[in-house]
This record gives sequence, C-alpha cells and structure tokens, in this order.
Amino acid sequence: MFTLAHLSDPHLAPLPTPTRRELAGKRVTGYFNWQRKRRFVHDPAVLWRLISDVRTTATDHIAITGDFANIALPQEFENLRKWLPGLGPRYDVTVIPGNHDVYVRGALEVMQEACSDSMRGDDDKATFPFVRLRGNVALIALNTGVPTPPLIATGRLGETQLTQLGSLLSALKAEGLFRVVLIHHPPESEAPRHKRLTDAAALRAVIAEHGAELILHGHDHINQMHWLHGPSGRVPAIGVPSASAAFGTTRDAAGYNLYRIEGERGAWRCEMESRGIGSDGLITTTGRLTLMA
Ligand SMILES: [Fe+2]
Repeated sequence: MFTLAHLSDPHLAPLPTPTRRELAGKRVTGYFNWQRKRRFVHDPAVLWRLISDVRTTATDHIAITGDFANIALPQEFENLRKWLPGLGPRYDVTVIPGNHDVYVRGALEVMQEACSDSMRGDDDKATFPFVRLRGNVALIALNTGVPTPPLIATGRLGETQLTQLGSLLSALKAEGLFRVVLIHHPPESEAPRHKRLTDAAALRAVIAEHGAELILHGHDHINQMHWLHGPSGRVPAIGVPSASAAFGTTRDAAGYNLYRIEGERGAWRCEMESRGIGSDGLITTTGRLTLMA
C-alpha cells in the first residue's frame, strides 16, 4: 500500500516586512489584503499542528499543491527553504507553485531554488510538467501560476504543458501506474471567473482523452470534489482547504486528505481519509470515502 498525504495553500506566516521597493506593482494590493484580512486566517500554529498530525500517519509521500508564499517576497521563499525539510526527505515531498508563488515575474525561479529536488522530476529537470515515480504511483506535477494584474488570481497551463500532459498520461498508463495529477487551480470550480483556470476546458479535454486516476488541487481553500469525464469512467478531482486556516476565520478550517492506494492496473483500490482541525484545535478524521474499490 502507498499512502499519499495531500495538503495545499499553507501561505506561510507571518509575512516578512517588505521594503518600499519590494512593494512596487501588484505586491501593494496583496500586502494590504494580507494586513486587512489574510493575516487573521493563516495561523502558523495551525499549520504546525497539521504537519505534526501528518507525521503521525504512516505516510509514504506528501504532496503540496502550491501557495506557500503570499506576495512572493524573496524572504518568503527563504522561509520556505527552511520550512520544507521539516516535512521529511526531499525524495518524499513533492511541491508545485500556486498563483501566490508566481505573484510577480521572476518569482518562480526563486521558488525553484528554495524547493530544490522537491520541485523537480526524477530526470532532475525543473520544467513542468515533471514526473516522480514512487512505487506504482506516478506523480505528474503541473504549473498553473502566471503573473496576473492586481486582484486577478487566474491560472493557465498553456498549450505546451497540456500537450505534454496528454503524452505523459498515455505513457504512464501503458506502464500500468496509478496516475496522480498535481495542480494548483481546480480543473472545475464554482469560484468567480477571475480566480479560475482559464484553460480548464482544455485540461478537462486532455483528461477525457487520456484519463488519470486522481487529480489533486488547492486554490479555492475549501474541501471540494468534482468528477471529470475519463475515457473509461469518472476521474475524481479533489481539493483541500488551506493548511493554515484557523477555525472559524474562513469557510473551511485547515485540513488535508490521505490517500491509501493499492492494487494494480485495472484493479486499483483507493481510500480517502479527510482530517481537519476543529474548534477545540484538535485534528480528527472528518470523513472517509472509497474512491476506487
Ligand atoms: Fe491560496
């Protein structure tokens, strides 16, 4: 059995104080947004508790689908560099960027440097999509982060990633692997248009043609599940809340999902366990679901 923990949107806090120069452009609106609202939501103590809980489970691998930063300050990525090793060896942790990590031009490169091997394929390439094979699970990592104007939180995969994703899904299926797609923006969402993935329809078309066993995402900061069309059945796309969201401050408090995967091609079994923080600050199992039996 392979156990995969999926977390998202840790939005590491506190936000370092930016210099006047760093606040130029889009970061100004993000900074005021943080001061006004977000700093009351993203609590480092909550995140610490959630990570401690993950570490008590027999997890083989941790996947985090983006938004480590808030306004992509260099100091935020420095904090990420120090925080990441606390999750486990780089080999067992996979991360991808979210829109807040790619807030401004040049931020992706700084993030890549901070994340090192956790944001790189088995072939050592840091370009997206990249693939990491662990047991009979293939993790396919995408990047939807693109710098956008202030107050716009859209994402985009682009034609190159979509084409390569199709080829990879097809090749990994032929190898008989359990394909897990990691993406920040949901492939389907009820969020307002200015927060969605602009080429979500094209992504769903790739999934409809090539399939996937599981799609994991973040971005909307809520527990959600959509079923997409696949070539031989439905494909679950599942999102989690922000891993640092304090109880009572936002719609869904911090939580994460554990996936227990076993079996083989054509006969996969996959159980999902959701764990989340309650009003008492304790983390408990909030749901269980058999995705494949
Ligand atoms: Fe986020």
